[in-house]
Amino acid sequence: MSLIEKAVQRLDALKQASGEQAAARVSTDLAPNVVAAPEPVAEVALGAGRTSSSVPEANRVPLPNPQVSRSIQIDLHRFAQIGMVTPDLPRSAIAEEFRLIKRPLLQNATATGPTAIENGSLIMVTSAMPGEGKSFTAINLAISMAMELDYTVLLVDADVSRPSVLNRLGLPPERGLMDVLSGEVSDLGDVLLRTNIEKLSILPAGMPHSRATEMLASESMNRLLEQIANRYPDRIIVFDSPPLLVTTEARVLATHMGQVVIVVEAEQTTHGTIKQALATIEGCPVKLMVLNKSRGQGSGSYYGYGYGYGSEARPEAA
Ligand SMILES: Nc1ncnc2c1ncn2[C@@H]1O[C@H](COP(=O)(O)OP(=O)(O)OP(=O)(O)O)[C@@H](O)[C@H]1O
Ligand SMILES: [Mg+2]
Repeated sequence: MSLIEKAVQRLDALKQASGEQAAARVSTDLAPNVVAAPEPVAEVALGAGRTSSSVPEANRVPLPNPQVSRSIQIDLHRFAQIGMVTPDLPRSAIAEEFRLIKRPLLQNATATGPTAIENGSLIMVTSAMPGEGKSFTAINLAISMAMELDYTVLLVDADVSRPSVLNRLGLPPERGLMDVLSGEVSDLGDVLLRTNIEKLSILPAGMPHSRATEMLASESMNRLLEQIANRYPDRIIVFDSPPLLVTTEARVLATHMGQVVIVVEAEQTTHGTIKQALATIEGCPVKLMVLNKSRGQGSGSYYGYGYGYGSEARPEAA
């Protein structure tokens, strides 16, 4: 059975085994912040986020040393209100969900010896189609990982055509990945943003570029990833990415990654679509599927959101 077939079969089993999902899928009953809204939570949550796209002056923290990356302030109170992971609420339902999701990723990222995975600390979050929850997952995952004692995390907005990480944080666009790749910014440190979550930094997408795909495939990208790896050897790097089946950018990006998280929107994405998406990243060492927006077990709420691993595929060579 091929890797793809196994992955899809696992997802099938996950979807069907509604009575046996305790370990595989986190019940949305655990996440009152996420499921309780009468409207689709997605709209409610992001409506709040989008209203504040300009940065209040008070959110800018001046840095003593201009050589060091600048700091930004994430409004953690608002984040908690819209059901995102925050360090202040480590036991919230959403934090519990992401605790389960991050665990195998961290294990893979830090594995040594025969189980070591090349570039395991480079984790890309993608999906087959737009709107399945990549950015939501990437941001929550990065915050959740940064809450761990042992890890520092860099969240890279690699959805360079439609960046959204800074917008979600209530911040305006900034220079970033594309500007480093194009050579307009020579020092990565100039565009890295430190945050008020101590162990979390952000590399914004930067200015849109017509040759984004080529730049992601370029030698500069290889150099940049090497630079990041050398500069922050103890760091996990989470990439929010474009969808796999819409542009070629995500496929190109995946060639650099040790682990790929594929977000699957429950009851929307067909098996055929998932198969196609997996086929585009066959070469990536580790692929994990997260079932998103699944109906909460017993919650009765159509708009319940939940997560679960659909598959974990390890290559023979890993
Ligand atoms: N588990 C979840 N709980 C609540 N809201 C969610 C969840 N997953 C996604 N959403 C919401 O669904 C919408 C789409 O999510 P998101 O923007 O993260 O998707 P995306 O895959 O990054 O989209 P794009 O392809 O446009 O980049 C957003 O409004 C987001 O807040
Ligand atoms: Mg997105």
